[in-house]
Amino acid sequence: MKIVMPGGTGQVGRVLERAFTAAGHDVVVLTRRPSGPGQVYWDGETPGPWTDAVDGSDVVVNLAGRSVNCRYTPANLRAMMDSRVRSTRAVGEAVAAAARPPRVWLQMSTATVYAHRFDAAHDEATGVLGGKEPGVPGYWSYSVDIATAWERALAEAPTPRTRKVALRSAMVMSPDRGGVFDVLSRLARTGLGGPVAGGAQYVSWVHETDFVRAAGFLIDREDLSGPVNVAAPAPLPQRAFMRELRAAWGMPIGLPATRWMAEIGAFVLRSDTELLLKSRRVVPGRLLDAGFTFDRPAWPGAAADLVRRSRARARGRAA
Ligand SMILES: NC(=O)c1ccc[n+]([C@@H]2O[C@H](COP(=O)([O-])OP(=O)(O)OC[C@H]3O[C@@H](n4cnc5c(N)ncnc54)[C@H](OP(=O)(O)O)[C@@H]3O)[C@@H](O)[C@H]2O)c1
Repeated sequence: MKIVMPGGTGQVGRVLERAFTAAGHDVVVLTRRPSGPGQVYWDGETPGPWTDAVDGSDVVVNLAGRSVNCRYTPANLRAMMDSRVRSTRAVGEAVAAAARPPRVWLQMSTATVYAHRFDAAHDEATGVLGGKEPGVPGYWSYSVDIATAWERALAEAPTPRTRKVALRSAMVMSPDRGGVFDVLSRLARTGLGGPVAGGAQYVSWVHETDFVRAAGFLIDREDLSGPVNVAAPAPLPQRAFMRELRAAWGMPIGLPATRWMAEIGAFVLRSDTELLLKSRRVVPGRLLDAGFTFDRPAWPGAAADLVRRSRARARGRAA
């Protein structure tokens, strides 16, 4: 297949590109800074010569968007919103104008679209969208607004010959440098990876292998469209999540952090505590109903595999 990936230069793009290329597919990445073969310039906002790559392709996987790992200043929140909505609209225009449009468009969305919740898990049928939860900082609703605007841009794109799927993805765990697993592992290995603010908030996650397999499944299954949760079936509270990660690294200590310590840490790391404190309890209802099975359904086994591969990579670099 010819697979076009706008925004495919980031962590998720690297995971997919490796897997698609290894499977023999032809991958084209759209980026604002092309630096090698297989990369084509786009500005993420307006149709241009890059639309030729979309015309005649089989699949588009749009991953573009300003990183959410930043301080939630008004300017950054606006950039997070605009980069997602504008790039999705631009992809929609390219698909709509194509003489031979792709048969499927996988559009990244996020599990953050669901409400902060502890008591039950969100699937696509019964899940509650966020934005109106009591007792959480008011600005958390902005992340939900971004996700819903992002999905609306997908839904509104006039592309009748192209099936559209919104990937409501949890954190994709891969050993890549700078990815979320890498960041959490650094905390765990330095003894700082304990419970944050009590650690009752749920963490939803998906192992990179299952993320890739789910993408392949959704490309093949012509009966599936609309929002699909891409998350392992067993989200767990943050304190248990970090305990298992520490165990995988062989680190016995994990200092707890209060909410205020987390605020200071996030400030120093130029990030935001919503990423740590929001309870994301999301399960893959539609994938399971459709018969998808997970290679890495439980966090202890997934963490052990990721640690093993991180160590192998570090040994490879050292050699
Ligand atoms: N990583 C996860 O676990 C996870 C989980 C759920 C959802 N997501 C979402 O999935 C997408 C991909 O995730 P990721 O971790 O791979 O993100 P990432 O590493 O931040 O990469 C996203 C890519 O988007 C492009 N981009 C950044 N700002 C842009 C802008 N203003 N206009 C157009 N393009 C821009 C960049 O490509 P160039 O600089 O090359 O143009 C960048 O490489 C993101 O939208 C993210 O929010 C990620």
